[in-house]
Amino acid sequence: MKKILIVGGGAMGSAFSIPCLENNNKVIITEPHNKVFIKDLASKKKFHSSLKVNLPKKLKFRNYSKNIFREKFDLIVIALSLAGIDFIGKELKDLKIKAPLLVLTKGLKYDKKKEKILTISGLLKNNYNVANVSVLKGPCLAKELARKNKTSVVVANKDVKIAKWIGKQISTRYYLTEFSKDVTGVEICSAIKNIYAMIIGSGQNFNTASDLFQKSVNEMKFLIKYFKGDESTILGLAGIGDLYVSAVGGRNSKMGDFLGKGFTFSAAKKKFMPKDTVEGEQLAREIAPYILKKINKKNIPLMAHLLKTILNNKKI
Ligand SMILES: NC(=O)c1ccc[n+]([C@@H]2O[C@H](COP(=O)([O-])OP(=O)(O)OC[C@H]3O[C@@H](n4cnc5c(N)ncnc54)[C@H](O)[C@@H]3O)[C@@H](O)[C@H]2O)c1
Repeated sequence: MKKILIVGGGAMGSAFSIPCLENNNKVIITEPHNKVFIKDLASKKKFHSSLKVNLPKKLKFRNYSKNIFREKFDLIVIALSLAGIDFIGKELKDLKIKAPLLVLTKGLKYDKKKEKILTISGLLKNNYNVANVSVLKGPCLAKELARKNKTSVVVANKDVKIAKWIGKQISTRYYLTEFSKDVTGVEICSAIKNIYAMIIGSGQNFNTASDLFQKSVNEMKFLIKYFKGDESTILGLAGIGDLYVSAVGGRNSKMGDFLGKGFTFSAAKKKFMPKDTVEGEQLAREIAPYILKKINKKNIPLMAHLLKTILNNKKI
């Protein structure tokens, strides 16, 4: 039995607790930001308002405090959305935590001063001095994991032994883990697939969407190589695996559909998705200053066009 701390009681952090508990670990979840999730997790029934399931009784909830990191854990899991990564980086900075850290968050950050795109593991290591970071990505809708639908994900660490050790602690018969050394490729894929899911969603019919799917895969392959990942990662769970699930369902492809119907981003957001977070839009705004300036748009025509469509609030 290992002691696992999950930071982030949103849909993904909470769903992730289920296989961890089923694997006979002691699991503690804490939520630093969202009052609704705190109320859900602190309640007796542990009904999660976003997953619409009762979480296991064995799941222990603890109020968030930086002091929690002073306790001994075998694994610390970060399940915050991208907006929470700088927060947690500051909290962890210089604590010299020994336990391996596993990041579920998908996204990229633009460092304006260094004019560099950073992966989340890169940001935690370079800007916040956090060591021993692994990442877990792949096609996983939190609601489906919470219902124990069979799900495969990839755990990446340059030292694949660490990734395999993590896999052993969290895998169940319905939550299967694969492993990769290509941390950069896995992180790039799992972030930009949200933008490509919007592009594919704009297709309006299967023929056009398939054409956009094929061209998206080519652009993703180019971008993995550009950011010094391993091109072959495009064929894995974090690449086409995650692109598929995001393109057939989810908020990014839904927004893409509205863009394809001729709405501007802000009109579609206001009319159809006022309360939804569209991760692809957030990422587009984050990385556009770099991508549009540094990369020849001939290599990534779809990405360049979508970024401009969102930034300038134009019709696609
Ligand atoms: N690795 C995977 O298999 C996988 C699968 C699905 C989703 N995800 C990723 O997990 C992340 C969370 O997704 P989710 O569906 O749980 O989202 P959610 O909206 O349900 O939860 C978001 C979490 O981030 C926290 N948060 C948001 N803004 C914050 C801020 N400013 N400061 C601190 N904390 C903040 C919230 O409090 C909450 O804990 C996303 O990046 C998503 O892409 C990963």
